[in-house]
Amino acid sequence: MVIPYEQKDTILHVENLCVSYGDRIILQNVNMVERDTIREGKTQGQVIAVLGRSGRGKSTLFRALTGLEKPSSGKVLIPDFNKVAANGKQPAKLVQEGDVGFVNQKYTLFRHKTVYEALWFAMRKSGFSKAEKEDEIMHYLKEWGLEKHKDQYPNFLSGGQRQRTAILEQLLSSGYYMVLDEPFSGLDIGNIMSVKKSFDLISQRHDLNTIIFSTHDIELAVELADSIYILGYPPDDKGQVLASGTMLKHFDLKELGLAWQDGFTESHHDCVQEIKEIMLRA
Ligand SMILES: Nc1ncnc2c1ncn2[C@@H]1O[C@H](COP(=O)(O)OP(=O)(O)O)[C@@H](O)[C@H]1O
Ligand SMILES: [Mg+2]
Repeated sequence: MVIPYEQKDTILHVENLCVSYGDRIILQNVNMVERDTIREGKTQGQVIAVLGRSGRGKSTLFRALTGLEKPSSGKVLIPDFNKVAANGKQPAKLVQEGDVGFVNQKYTLFRHKTVYEALWFAMRKSGFSKAEKEDEIMHYLKEWGLEKHKDQYPNFLSGGQRQRTAILEQLLSSGYYMVLDEPFSGLDIGNIMSVKKSFDLISQRHDLNTIIFSTHDIELAVELADSIYILGYPPDDKGQVLASGTMLKHFDLKELGLAWQDGFTESHHDCVQEIKEIMLRA
């Protein structure tokens, strides 16, 4: 069932992105366009999944999306919210380090900071007063079920609590964008649920909030995302596989009537199957 929605301004524009290390081309002509999704009567952020087998360049793409990796050619554009909108459109800018929160595959928390201290540090550039910062942090700690753990150090947290703290740190220190590289790997079912919940909390907080994540769990991607990209090695004219990652296919789950549904239907399973077949070929 297609849930009604509208698409507004472009919020992410990746154009012919190429990344090379020396003479090895890792990513070739990657294109992505995402727009702000509006649902009537509901705050609806964007949840975008990037799938691909190991070595296809997911982590490299994510470093480029966060401005940590300079493209060898092509570009990553996001709206420039510091500029005044013209004709209802926000001018675009090249993404820069700090614009996008990044929870790395091997995410690290400050070992010598408690949860509260880490979040306080994350808000250092927020421009909020001391009292506002305290309020904001306490609000999130409560909402995210971390209040009891606020004075604990990372070593004493469960995997899910640590992951949520890492996500919150990035949320508080950056703008609307959040990139998470395999945020579910190594977590047990309970912790997976709690990270899923944090995705909901982020996307229901602001229309512009945009989560981009990678995972090897195709079912989970189809369940959570409203847009899925498959990164893989494309076959060349002679049917040989080139070892540079590119986008093989995009699934718009909103359009397919698979986004924001309560249950996992037959159509969701079909989508999973189709994705598996594409990935196995590339
Ligand atoms: N800093 C680097 N220098 C050289 N090659 C790299 C570097 N980082 C990644 N690669 C190579 O780029 C390819 C894609 O890696 P990566 O982006 O980590 O893929 P994925 O996250 O999909 O597993 C791999 O072949 C990897 O060996
Ligand atoms: Mg990776």
